[in-house]
Amino acid sequence: MADPKPKLVIVYGTGTNNTKAVAEGIESGARDEGVDTVVLNVADISKEEIVAEITGAQGVAIGSPTYNRKPVPAIVTLVDMLQDVNMEGKVCATFGAYGHSGEAPKTLKRVLKPCNMEQMEVLRILGKPAGPTLDECRKYGAEIAGNMLEK
Ligand SMILES: Cc1cc2nc3c(=O)[nH]c(=O)nc-3n(C[C@H](O)[C@H](O)[C@H](O)COP(=O)(O)O)c2cc1C
Repeated sequence: MADPKPKLVIVYGTGTNNTKAVAEGIESGARDEGVDTVVLNVADISKEEIVAEITGAQGVAIGSPTYNRKPVPAIVTLVDMLQDVNMEGKVCATFGAYGHSGEAPKTLKRVLKPCNMEQMEVLRILGKPAGPTLDECRKYGAEIAGNMLEK
């Protein structure tokens, strides 16, 4: 039997669904490259279930918009929980929609650094992705998948 496809978990928080649209663009690009994807809104299922999904995956993309220069609290809680599990060697991406300063993806990347994952550059999208910026999301998803498939 062929090896199972590597799995990418894409988890995001959002206030007005712009980061959701970024997540969906990332998913589309990653799936086209041939990895399995799971997209989760942090508000929809328990953080314990999300941690379990991530533990069983080869890649994780974590997204948050920037509100008052910070990631949303539910995503901050999730990344804090990830400090307590073995994340070593996974491909890790951080992303988010923003309006003017866009600190959240960089903050998440910094907080996740001690997890010893293969961290990618952040993806920041101004407002709701569409046209060229939606293409950017898909391309980013393809890059994540490419890094996972190389391992
Ligand atoms: C109360 C409020 C505070 C915000 N603070 C910031 C901020 O500090 N930096 C920034 O870049 N954008 C800020 N924004 C803009 C949002 O990040 C932007 O609208 C983003 O696209 C929202 O993404 P979402 O739809 O995923 O929630 C703020 C928006 C609101 C309503």
